[in-house]
Amino acid sequence: MDPSPPKRVLLIVGGGIAAYKALELVRLFRRAGVGVRVVLTRAGAEFVTPLSLGALSEDRVFTELFSLTDEQEIGHIELSRQADLLVVAPASANLLAKAANGMADDLATTVLLATDKPVLMAPAMNVRMWLHPATVRNVDGLTGDGVRFVGPDEGAMACGEFGPGRMAEPQAIFTAAMSVLATGPVAAPPVLPLKGRRVLVTAGPTFEPIDPVRGLSNRSSGKQGYAIAEALAELGAEVTLISGPVDLPTPAAVRRVKVVTASQMLEACRAALPVDAAVMAAAVSDWRPERVADRKLKKEAGAPEIRLVRNPDILATLSQPGPERPQLVVGFAAETDHLEEHARDKLVRKGCNWIVANDVTRPGVLGGEENAVTLLTGEGEEAWPRATKVEVARRLAERIAAALAEGSEAGDVH
Ligand code: CTP
Repeated sequence: MDPSPPKRVLLIVGGGIAAYKALELVRLFRRAGVGVRVVLTRAGAEFVTPLSLGALSEDRVFTELFSLTDEQEIGHIELSRQADLLVVAPASANLLAKAANGMADDLATTVLLATDKPVLMAPAMNVRMWLHPATVRNVDGLTGDGVRFVGPDEGAMACGEFGPGRMAEPQAIFTAAMSVLATGPVAAPPVLPLKGRRVLVTAGPTFEPIDPVRGLSNRSSGKQGYAIAEALAELGAEVTLISGPVDLPTPAAVRRVKVVTASQMLEACRAALPVDAAVMAAAVSDWRPERVADRKLKKEAGAPEIRLVRNPDILATLSQPGPERPQLVVGFAAETDHLEEHARDKLVRKGCNWIVANDVTRPGVLGGEENAVTLLTGEGEEAWPRATKVEVARRLAERIAAALAEGSEAGDVH
């Protein structure tokens, strides 16, 4: 049988600072043997040049609707017919609005209106523009027309604001495009490397009551743990998230168990076993009051003496060898100094496989949206670049998937 002919993508590059990422996207397609032809909008050309796109795509770049040479050599209808998939990256708010309303006032929008091929859009815009009801309507309309979307991601934006609106990374757009290309017009099933795997995640602080209204707790927001639970579920894992008191919604397709104290968290973890992997992202209180007063302590009685006793170490307990020990146990270490040294010591002391260490003295880490972590494994350490907690979670989930897959073959995880 003949091998199937090489796939071709028509890449529409809209306006926006993210346009520079289109260069990397072209490179990824070319490296995978996918033909790329580029349509560059006028706004897109403010950010990236036809010359660089042309050099990487090894083809000419189309810009004008009524260019005589463009139309003579290849008409705008032909441009979309020759492609297997149209990818719009970045898809600006304006381009989305025009496409949603069937406008065709330049080459990009004309091609989008004239095509009968699958379309994948990677939106990129300011967070307020993305959340504006008009954009929400446009995205709904386009989705109804069969257009697929990848991203946007959440994070710090070029405009200095924070939230959803950043264009998905080229690798994510490439992966989404390849899955559409692999299956044609029918929605591609996502790749789910953790399908059939059970994973346990702890998140948030614990709260150790002193009396009915007071207690010991800490400033953990739970954001990193929740993002990890979500990222693992996105890869197909059956996730149980054991959460201390935080005000975050349950991530999609995740089973959440709410607890208050460290003892309850340990109980809930035990009940969730057996699992393939456990990620202990909770900031568990190391101590609890020995006695919990059943009535509110009154100040007339003077300052209370509160005796503290050690809480069980959930991470160390789950890491103990035995038939129920997860194949991979990941702990966290929040450090203020000697990051690697303290984290390595914790790895050995607690008996887990990996430690995700973070420097909590860095601004914006505690309670913020970003994290700067170092991953310590039995084989060494890697400092990951500062990224959003969602990005860190996705990277960790990928690593866990790879380790479990490798471990199944090798019978162990390092
Ligand atoms: N942990 C746990 N149960 C505890 C305490 C901690 O499961 N009772 C887990 C956390 O979820 C995290 C890791 O252990 O994965 C953090 O270890 P810990 O020793 O608490 O780290 P620090 O808070 O950095 O403590 P210290 O530096 O004081 O030892």
